[in-house]
Amino acid sequence: MKKNTSATKKETPTKFQILPEIKNRWSPRAFDDMPISDNELKKLFEAGRWAPSSNNFQPWAIIYGIKGTEMYDRIFDCLVEFNQGWAKNAPALVLSAFKKTNPKGEENFHALHDLGQYMANVAIQAQHNGIALHQMAGIDYEKAKKEFNFPDDFHVATATAIGYYGGDISSLPDDLQDAERGERKRKEQSSFVFNGDFNEEKFNQ
Ligand SMILES: Cc1cc2nc3c(=O)[nH]c(=O)nc-3n(C[C@H](O)[C@H](O)[C@H](O)COP(=O)(O)O)c2cc1C
Repeated sequence: MKKNTSATKKETPTKFQILPEIKNRWSPRAFDDMPISDNELKKLFEAGRWAPSSNNFQPWAIIYGIKGTEMYDRIFDCLVEFNQGWAKNAPALVLSAFKKTNPKGEENFHALHDLGQYMANVAIQAQHNGIALHQMAGIDYEKAKKEFNFPDDFHVATATAIGYYGGDISSLPDDLQDAERGERKRKEQSSFVFNGDFNEEKFNQ
């Protein structure tokens, strides 16, 4: 029998009913060959644009490239080797950065939080549009900062691979093929949601 070599859906054992876009989202490492258009990407960046941010500072900055272009290759070269191993098949790559200071030049402690909200909006809009994301911390952020001419008070936080679900799993390195089929897992709410004091023992369970 032919082994299933693509995955579009994953088990997500939720305890309460949540939006299908949140339940069905997962982070694939194999993407379908179908290219992604500039217009589709701009829809995702627009969803991010309307994320809330502290003082409405909107500290995020996005660099993107579509496969087959020099921009894509320049972003790809900023990924760590592990991520290059699978992300090379992604139809688009993105770098996400944030400005570390507010307009007075003081540290903006909420900037990373705001970039996270930006990316969460992008992820949920992408899921709604049938598009998959895989975010990555594994980047050479100093190299990325220099390569794309960011000023000193910016930090390049993450990269993201973007494309369509349903990629050929056998195209992945062996050790990543099982992960691609595995069930999604999360900590129980009881270990991090407290209607009272923070409980370190529960948190570490
Ligand atoms: C900020 C961030 C950094 C991540 N870094 C990497 C990475 O460098 N390489 C990788 O393969 N996955 C990376 N991931 C993906 C996570 O491992 C993945 O989201 C997590 O295992 C949960 O899986 P799910 O998104 O399918 O629910 C990252 C995710 C986030 C949000």
